[in-house]
Amino acid sequence: MTVETRDAKKRIQFLKSLPTLPGMLDQISRAVESHRFSASDIGKLISKDQVLTAKVLKLANSAFYGFSRKVGSLTQALVLLGFEVIKGLILTSAVFEMMKKKQLGLWEHSLAVALTTGLVAEMSPAIKERREEIALAGLLHDLGKVVIQIQLPHDAESVAELIEVEDMGTGRAEEEVLGFNHCQAGMWLAESWKLPLELTEPIRWHHTPLEAPNASLAAAAVHLADILVKGYGFTTSESVYVPPLQKQALKHLGLNLKAIETVIKMMPEKLGPDVTDSSLAPF
Ligand SMILES: [Fe+2]
Ligand SMILES: [Fe+2]
Repeated sequence: MTVETRDAKKRIQFLKSLPTLPGMLDQISRAVESHRFSASDIGKLISKDQVLTAKVLKLANSAFYGFSRKVGSLTQALVLLGFEVIKGLILTSAVFEMMKKKQLGLWEHSLAVALTTGLVAEMSPAIKERREEIALAGLLHDLGKVVIQIQLPHDAESVAELIEVEDMGTGRAEEEVLGFNHCQAGMWLAESWKLPLELTEPIRWHHTPLEAPNASLAAAAVHLADILVKGYGFTTSESVYVPPLQKQALKHLGLNLKAIETVIKMMPEKLGPDVTDSSLAPF
């Protein structure tokens, strides 16, 4: 079998078995997407799932959103947060369930990237207003790694081995073993889940953000956050490699090195020694 045939086979095997959203989450996500339901209709649907209810209320009351009053009801939380954020939260819980089962390091890394993307976005006038949605893209950026772990566990082991033994970067090791990388894998899943471009493109282009055709600002914010978080020490478990920061990404966001220094200074308070314990964690 040629390398091309092997890679094509792997790709088909991978695409055929992409995970679907759990039934309940799928139902809620469709209702949100159809725009035909009111906040209270969707609130009723969500209230059937206690874990999700708790998550929505926690998110609405978290320091991340900074509402001064306590948000007690689901409807109120839905109106305040907006349906897009709720949809993101639903998708996020599905991904988190997968991540927690598979790789704790990746979960910590993703959470830290979400928080740091929020900090970067806050500094950039072009995306400041959309910082919550863009932070969500930060959370999901390495989705492809989770799916590879779940769908192709043996190949994921070979990838980890190459990274460790050959000291290879993650993307190159994935391409060597699979013929595709986690950016592509993540995009395939994001597309099959019909995520918006603002999420799909940062997932696909977080290592080369200026190549993103529609959401390059979001991709650039995630790119910067990813590198800052790796430098800070929250890496995915198998790799300690910190890729170079793309200077054009900084420029694209209208930021200078001073702004990045400010973000770095804010990170310890925002992330803490264990980001998963942080009360500031948005999810
Ligand atoms: Fe990545
Ligand atoms: Fe990452």
